[in-house]
Amino acid sequence: MNDQSIDLSTTIAGVPLTVCMMNASGARCVTQEELEALGRSRAGAIVTKSMTPQPREGNPEPRYYSFAGGSINSMGLPNLGYPTYARLIPALRRFGKPIIASIAGLCEQDFVDGARALNTVQPDLMEINLSCPNLPGKPQIGYDFQAAQRLLRKVREVVTVPMGVKLPPYFDPAHHEVMASLLAEVEVDFLSVINSVGNALVVNPEAESVVIKPKGGFGGLGGHLIKPVALANVRAFWKLLHGRVTIIGTGGIVTGTDVFEHLLCGASAVQIGTTLVEEGLQAFDRIETELREVLQKKGYRSVHDCQGKLREL
Ligand code: SIN
Repeated sequence: MNDQSIDLSTTIAGVPLTVCMMNASGARCVTQEELEALGRSRAGAIVTKSMTPQPREGNPEPRYYSFAGGSINSMGLPNLGYPTYARLIPALRRFGKPIIASIAGLCEQDFVDGARALNTVQPDLMEINLSCPNLPGKPQIGYDFQAAQRLLRKVREVVTVPMGVKLPPYFDPAHHEVMASLLAEVEVDFLSVINSVGNALVVNPEAESVVIKPKGGFGGLGGHLIKPVALANVRAFWKLLHGRVTIIGTGGIVTGTDVFEHLLCGASAVQIGTTLVEEGLQAFDRIETELREVLQKKGYRSVHDCQGKLREL
């Protein structure tokens, strides 16, 4: 039995969402048609593709490959350019859900210019993507703490809506600590953790080859197999930033139980990538039903009831 009275609403940095699920930037959110379809779907918010100053075709194809348990991609930020997204966002408001503009760039100034331009149309939230692993010759900014701090300080000055950061996975508590204190210093309002696990390599043994073309086959790993890494990052930042910074858990969500695990670790909401690409937007309906069932079975009445309640042994 699916209990509709279970409250799946949440807030991100004070912005209300009726349902705690949305697309991850990159998943079905590049074009106007895709963004409108997200508006009509059960997603609690619309997240744009990470945008750059100029439109980009992205990396050569094949650049996405799915396999049992996950996916690898090296899309290379194909997007319409921030002037186009700035024009599209006001019309997306008719869907009555928050709009999250995702900002990227090829250099520091791109981020500042993009954030300033998008700020003029006041998306509900702005997500600064410091973690694209797929730009040849451009290291992930989230792994360079000094560069990340400098960039975020500049962007913070031009952004007046709640501002978040999309981070790469960290694998050492020392790195979580450095990043957490940096985020507190810059007064970031929310986090999306994690982006894909960068620079992985999937091999096709039959063909004796890589499976995607860019970067010699190296790309970002997504899908169910990265869930433990995502949960660890949600939990680590939840503990370090508890109460001050909203966390959006991203990584490995296929079922309602996966969402529940992210909530237990401290996430207020989740973003879904590979599963949306593979299954389509109806995945939101399925996962929402499953999440209601899990919460009902566990005796929780709302997202808030179970958030952060992970027990340690
Ligand atoms: C891409 O477009 O290459 C993926 C974006 C990202 O991982 O941030």
